[in-house]
Amino acid sequence: MTRAPRWRSGYAIACRAITFRFESGPWLILMFNSAVFKKLEKNDFRTLTGIEVGMKSYQWVPLEMLPSFAKLREKEVSYRIRRLLEFGLVRKTSMPYEGCKIYFKGYDTLALGTLTRRGLSAIGERIGVGKESVVYEGIYDGEPVILKFHRAGQTSFKQVTRQRDTGTRDHWIFIAGRAAEREHEALVALHGSVAVPRCVDHNRHIVVMSVAPGIELSKTTVDDPGWFLDRIIEQIGKAYEHGFVHSDLSEYNVFVSPAGVEIIDWPGYVTTRHPNVDFLLDRDVKNILTFFNRKYGTVRDCKKVVEYVKCPGRVSIP
Ligand SMILES: Nc1ncnc2c1ncn2[C@@H]1O[C@H](COP(=O)(O)OP(=O)(O)OP(=O)(O)O)[C@@H](O)[C@H]1O
Ligand SMILES: [Mg+2]
Repeated sequence: MTRAPRWRSGYAIACRAITFRFESGPWLILMFNSAVFKKLEKNDFRTLTGIEVGMKSYQWVPLEMLPSFAKLREKEVSYRIRRLLEFGLVRKTSMPYEGCKIYFKGYDTLALGTLTRRGLSAIGERIGVGKESVVYEGIYDGEPVILKFHRAGQTSFKQVTRQRDTGTRDHWIFIAGRAAEREHEALVALHGSVAVPRCVDHNRHIVVMSVAPGIELSKTTVDDPGWFLDRIIEQIGKAYEHGFVHSDLSEYNVFVSPAGVEIIDWPGYVTTRHPNVDFLLDRDVKNILTFFNRKYGTVRDCKKVVEYVKCPGRVSIP
């Protein structure tokens, strides 16, 4: 590639989203556009929300407590639970007591319900399945966006350790929610100063963000690698200046376009006060330098780059 990679035009994405939303595909698209989603009523959402609230204290939310969590009468809750079970949005147990809980299908429904009320109008093609997320194109307030559904525990054993670290109750949906919150925090703090997607909205485990221009560094060949490497190092420096280290930086999390670079995938960030920050910054820089060295033969001194990143009045990139 020159500095002109394959563009994802906003218009093309919008058209694809509108086309795909009626086609078969992952259940999520079906869910969002299906008869089920349209059939859901206010009290179905209230019941799901009641279960979500109860899950902050229980592994399985006792059915007898649900009316108070959902602020609905007992009879209404029984009716809603039957419907939600039919739709596959709730799981039920009878041992050791009658209880229920939601998993990602129910959590997606709650988050999509909220986002729809705020401006989300379509979900398009699934464009990425990461270690800990599923990513879709979408339309929000008439604009193409990216919807990142955090999916802790579904694809990665790494999450098992993280689960123990969080101190929250061990429901995967809440761990995913925390990851989305972290990503949202990083995007809000950095956007405007560092080249990261703009956070459009956030609810529960879903982050809605702008579409990164261009293409992943890993999927293209640039014909001016030194220039792109400089832009990446610059962004690592700016993020450090704002107290952030990505800590999962690689060619897969950098988008390149003629305008420069944009860094995605921030839920694993650490602050510059983190005890392991030096190790993690070093690893980020090494990952990028190794990629450029292997693919383009571009050689840079890792130590000097790290020094540059940490230097408050940095001027020339080593
Ligand atoms: N803002 C964005 N604009 C365009 N594409 C995006 C954006 N965010 C994510 N993607 C796409 O979705 C993929 C997965 O996203 P991301 O890297 O954020 O999630 P992840 O679960 O951490 O993935 P991985 O574990 O592979 O790093 C990306 O590689 C990219 O193709
Ligand atoms: Mg990634």
